Amino acid sequence: MRVVILGSGTGSNAKAILQAQGDGALGNAEVVQIIADQPAAGILRHGKTFNVPARYLDPAPFKTKLEGAGEDLYIETVSELKPDLIVLAGFMRVIKPRFINAFAGKIINLHPSLLPSFPGLDGIGQAWRRGVKVGGCTVHYVTAEVDAGPIIDQASVRIEPEDTLETYAAKVHAAEHRLLPLVIARLSQQRQA
Ligand code: GRF
Repeated sequence: MRVVILGSGTGSNAKAILQAQGDGALGNAEVVQIIADQPAAGILRHGKTFNVPARYLDPAPFKTKLEGAGEDLYIETVSELKPDLIVLAGFMRVIKPRFINAFAGKIINLHPSLLPSFPGLDGIGQAWRRGVKVGGCTVHYVTAEVDAGPIIDQASVRIEPEDTLETYAAKVHAAEHRLLPLVIARLSQQRQA
């Protein structure tokens, strides 16, 4: 199963996926390319470390969504990679129906809350400020409505009395790093069956 990762930031989840791949724990999945919409994104460095092609792809003209010329470029470039799965791992940009339809049923996203609670920006901070006692993270299929597609799997994280926003955030990220590679491995096995 050919996997393309899209991201914008530090790429700790991309790193977890590549580490799992190196450990033989990614099922039949193989990451074939990492694409970032920020030229200085840390996620690009992980490609080098793990010997997987990584590139910046200009998403212009918009800042918070993928539409217009940038959308065309992304559709064309990603299509050429013939992906079976596109993983949004911290891709901080709303993707629109043209891109979604070009890769129907093949795009998954990682979100740092137990959806449907706390969609949108800062899922960790939203949960923390609401005072929930159990938070976590979600992997779901991407549909046109942000953070609302079918849920594939979730991991819960208890918020203990001694937690701070920082310790809670660290626990959620650790849960993400376990969950996302597992989901990819599982999807690769299901799709082969
Ligand atoms: C993760 O918390 C993910 O849930 C959210 O963006 C963050 C990406 O982190 N969508 P990283 O770039 O993988 O470290």
